[in-house]
Amino acid sequence: MAFAQAIFEECWPRWQQHFSPEPRLRLGGIWLADLADCTPEMASIYLGSDELGRWTGFSQKKRRSEWLGGRLAAKWAAAELLGETTVDWQGLSIRNEEDGRPYVATETQSVVPLISISHSGPLAAALAANLPCGFDIQQPGANILRVKKRFALREEEDILTASLPEAFTETKRLTMLWAAKEAIRKAVRAHPLLGLLEIRLISGHGGCGAPQAPLALTFASGRKQDDCPPNISVLCFFADNLAWAMACLPIPKE
Ligand SMILES: CC(C)(COP(=O)(O)OP(=O)(O)OC[C@H]1O[C@@H](n2cnc3c(N)ncnc32)[C@H](O)[C@@H]1OP(=O)(O)O)[C@@H](O)C(=O)NCCC(=O)NCCS
Repeated sequence: MAFAQAIFEECWPRWQQHFSPEPRLRLGGIWLADLADCTPEMASIYLGSDELGRWTGFSQKKRRSEWLGGRLAAKWAAAELLGETTVDWQGLSIRNEEDGRPYVATETQSVVPLISISHSGPLAAALAANLPCGFDIQQPGANILRVKKRFALREEEDILTASLPEAFTETKRLTMLWAAKEAIRKAVRAHPLLGLLEIRLISGHGGCGAPQAPLALTFASGRKQDDCPPNISVLCFFADNLAWAMACLPIPKE
């Protein structure tokens, strides 16, 4: 059975430098097609008994692959960040809080990485970091044009048009904006989650929107609460016909 692997590893040092404070981060992923024939016996190499029970309980094939792919990617990214050479995959458990937020549970490590999971189209991927993080991938589709009023303001579209090369179509620009806002919603611990129009794009800086030169976007949050920084930085790019977005936040004060 295939296992998750590094994604855009050569770009990590540059991505890390972008955020303040500078995090350590790892990005792993797995093509869902590689999981199509996965049996419970194969999955049990990586999943603990609780996880295996949950996985076998999914009736929908797509959801089964996405959920498993997200777990494998998150386990891989977390183990890499921990620098573990021999990993007890069943003991490195990925659980979800009541609101769906994923976290790493392990009895062997006192400090565990923070993680964020996303799946879209053919891929499941996860970001692990030593700071709160949010990660999203999104496959572009015509539907994004129909729903744009629900998440995009005219001024935000203008910033993206001015920041990205002309080759980026409206669909691609909007998909990138959507992914960036979803990454923020996952990164910020807010109840309820921040609304898509509560997060406002205020500027774009450099980068051509490729993994090696991602576009850096700055967003303002309309929610005033302790865990929600006023400005949030997100790195975005397009690759493999997916929009990718990641956000890292400072550790909130106790
Ligand atoms: C969470 C949310 C942003 C996920 O985004 P999405 O684009 O639909 O899907 P993605 O594939 O990118 O992400 C899915 C992953 O997000 C993660 N996730 C779910 N809820 C989350 C949360 N509150 N915070 C951070 N991450 C979350 C999960 O790991 C999930 O994957 P998994 O179920 O396989 O573990 C979106 O589903 C959402 O808005 N949910 C809100 C639902 C809600 O408010 N529920 C209230 C329950 S109390």
